[in-house]
Amino acid sequence: MLFAFFLLVIISFSYMYHAKVNVTMFTNHMQAEKLLSKTEESVTEKSQNIEEPKPLTGMWTVNAIGRLGNLMGEYATLYSLAKMNGRQAYILPNMHSQLSKIFKIRLPVLHQEVINRIKWRHYGLHDWMSEEYRHIKGDYIHLSGYPCSFTFYHHIKDEILQEFTFHDFIKEESYAYLNNVRGDKKNVTFVGVHVRRGDYVHVMPNTWKGVVADKGYLQKAMDYFRNKYENPLFIVTSNGMDWCKENINTSLGDIHFAGDGQEGSPGRDFALLAHCNHTIMTIGTFGIWVGYLVGGETIYLTNYTLTDSPFLKVFKYEAAFLPEWIGIPADLSPLLNNKNP
Ligand SMILES: *[C@@H]1O[C@H](CO)[C@@H](O)[C@H](O)[C@H]1NC(C)=O
Ligand SMILES: *[C@@H]1O[C@H](CO)[C@@H](O)[C@H](O)[C@H]1NC(C)=O
Ligand SMILES: *[C@@H]1O[C@H](CO)[C@@H](O)[C@H](O)[C@H]1NC(C)=O
Ligand SMILES: *[C@@H]1O[C@H](CO)[C@@H](O)[C@H](O)[C@H]1NC(C)=O
Ligand SMILES: *[C@@H]1O[C@H](CO)[C@@H](O)[C@H](O)[C@H]1NC(C)=O
Repeated sequence: MLFAFFLLVIISFSYMYHAKVNVTMFTNHMQAEKLLSKTEESVTEKSQNIEEPKPLTGMWTVNAIGRLGNLMGEYATLYSLAKMNGRQAYILPNMHSQLSKIFKIRLPVLHQEVINRIKWRHYGLHDWMSEEYRHIKGDYIHLSGYPCSFTFYHHIKDEILQEFTFHDFIKEESYAYLNNVRGDKKNVTFVGVHVRRGDYVHVMPNTWKGVVADKGYLQKAMDYFRNKYENPLFIVTSNGMDWCKENINTSLGDIHFAGDGQEGSPGRDFALLAHCNHTIMTIGTFGIWVGYLVGGETIYLTNYTLTDSPFLKVFKYEAAFLPEWIGIPADLSPLLNNKNP
């Protein structure tokens, strides 16, 4: 009898214990379910309100032709057009080896064997954005041309600038260089000046019925900054340094020919100019990218071809230079004077 009583007590305690556990578990389960349904709710809400990014498919790439400025234009255009079309962008090894020396670019690189095996569809681009580029069909597209227009990628400017982040050691070198140039001067404003010469000196008049920047242009552009800022310092880089030294008036002591006036490496020159506060460019994609990365005031040479120039079939001023940049029209008189009657 006593035994039976104890047994009952043990059974009932054990029952209560288990019941409690069961209740706890039940409660926990309820809470878990509540949480779960909340998460489900928010997921549902999200997919209703915000468009989930579709997974990227295919492999898109772009030719790697030209020098630094061209490669940057090709990279940025591929990045943007592939994204617009929901495709995964890849770059060619040659582009990677040149750009990754300078920037922390992140697009994956195609292996040469993969490039050789894929049956690419080649798709030529002109140098400004067009509606049809939003709807390019194909999983394996090989873009070609020399695209370098903000109209392709300005809507994702932050992402493009992120791709063109300098390696830390380059950043440090540039700052050290500019600090050295600054010396004891206070409240200095650095203006990066890129004077594109080299082959363009001949190509512009002979092929394109155009001119390159002259002495008068540089004088006007520099005077703009001299009038506006207290202590401007002009950091000049060029692939024609001898011409620069002969044609830029240094009497105000505010001109610095970078690299002791020697032609530097494009990467070093580019980084130096990109760390200045404002930009004077002449022509070419190198200068355009400097201005784009610096983000300060940019002065550019404009209307540097005759109106019947074939250049205007492949190039649009308004697609190359941001609307807020300041254009100084070129002096075309050397072309007009050379023209046979
Ligand atoms: C609930 O309690 C009963 C009786 O004590 C037990 O047999 C069962 O295993 C418990 N349920 C769970 C899910 O643990
Ligand atoms: C520094 O120069 C800018 C113009 O370049 C001027 O507006 C500013 O007042 C100057 N600051 C000092 C502390 O002199
Ligand atoms: C150079 O600039 C200084 C100061 O503005 C001016 O006095 C001088 O005439 C200029 N020299 C030439 C050759 O233009
Ligand atoms: C101008 O550029 C120098 C060198 O990159 C930088 O240290 C400074 O902060 C810049 N000044 C302004 C006003 O952005
Ligand atoms: C360049 O030429 C165009 C067309 O002739 C003209 O509308 C524009 O004002 C010119 N730009 C400048 C800065 O003079």
